Amino acid sequence: MSTHSSPEPRTYVVTGAGRGLGLAVAEHLGRAGAHVVVAELRAEIAARGVEHLSAAGVRVTRVDTDVTDPGSVATLAAAVADLGGAHGLVNNAALADGVGGLPFWQIPDEAFSRVLDVNVRGTWLVSAALYDQLAGHRGAIVNLASDAALYGSPRLAHYVASKGAVIALTRGMARDAGPDGVRVNAVAPGLTRVEATESVPAERYALYREHRALPIDQTPGDVAGVVAFLLSEDARYVTGQTVVVDGGFVMA
Ligand SMILES: NC(=O)c1ccc[n+]([C@@H]2O[C@H](COP(=O)([O-])OP(=O)(O)OC[C@H]3O[C@@H](n4cnc5c(N)ncnc54)[C@H](O)[C@@H]3O)[C@@H](O)[C@H]2O)c1
Repeated sequence: MSTHSSPEPRTYVVTGAGRGLGLAVAEHLGRAGAHVVVAELRAEIAARGVEHLSAAGVRVTRVDTDVTDPGSVATLAAAVADLGGAHGLVNNAALADGVGGLPFWQIPDEAFSRVLDVNVRGTWLVSAALYDQLAGHRGAIVNLASDAALYGSPRLAHYVASKGAVIALTRGMARDAGPDGVRVNAVAPGLTRVEATESVPAERYALYREHRALPIDQTPGDVAGVVAFLLSEDARYVTGQTVVVDGGFVMA
């Protein structure tokens, strides 16, 4: 009779995992047996997300985190180290809610800076803080970009620029991390109906519906499965890439 020791549970950090796509990713990873760390800014959203995950039987740890605050990110890294270190990181937190609507020449300076700060600098800051742990496990990072960066969505220029920067950052990080066996990829979802996108105008939904190759609406689960694949050993030879998950709305 052969004996098998059960494999070490993998710990995945998902930023902004209190709701939306991050929550779907956390649930997908957790249902597959991972220990998930919810690193969310807003306490009430974090609480709701953790309750949902616990009810689904997911092993979850909540560390309230502001991805733009180095002190907060250091606290996150210390908490994850206490759990044995991160095997994977999903940089999902972003300002994605209520940012659209203005042409680029009307976007307030502070709004532009804030979107870049959360979406780009936050992604870099968390990745840097968790890097040693990830390298120790030859782990993987997945950054949430958006097909908006590839399509050039109108009245969303700061968000579009931030997600273009996430795609470029992914490539730079992949080159730096490759020698340590750490892979870095991005997923670029299309318009997916979640709380954050409830305010997106009906015409934008209609545009996607009309121009996708697949004539079906996108769900959070469509994104979660691809994120999980990129974190897995099945993707061991994939790094520096951006996988567009949008039903063929843009074809990169
Ligand atoms: N839903 C879509 O249609 C869509 C499409 C393309 C890309 N995306 C990307 O997917 C990701 C998730 O988007 P979503 O639609 O679920 O939006 P969402 O607003 O529900 O999720 C973002 C989460 O990040 C959290 N957050 C914001 N600032 C933070 C900070 N400073 N520190 C920590 N957490 C912070 C928010 O509280 C929120 O829970 C984002 O990166 C978004 O840009 C979403």
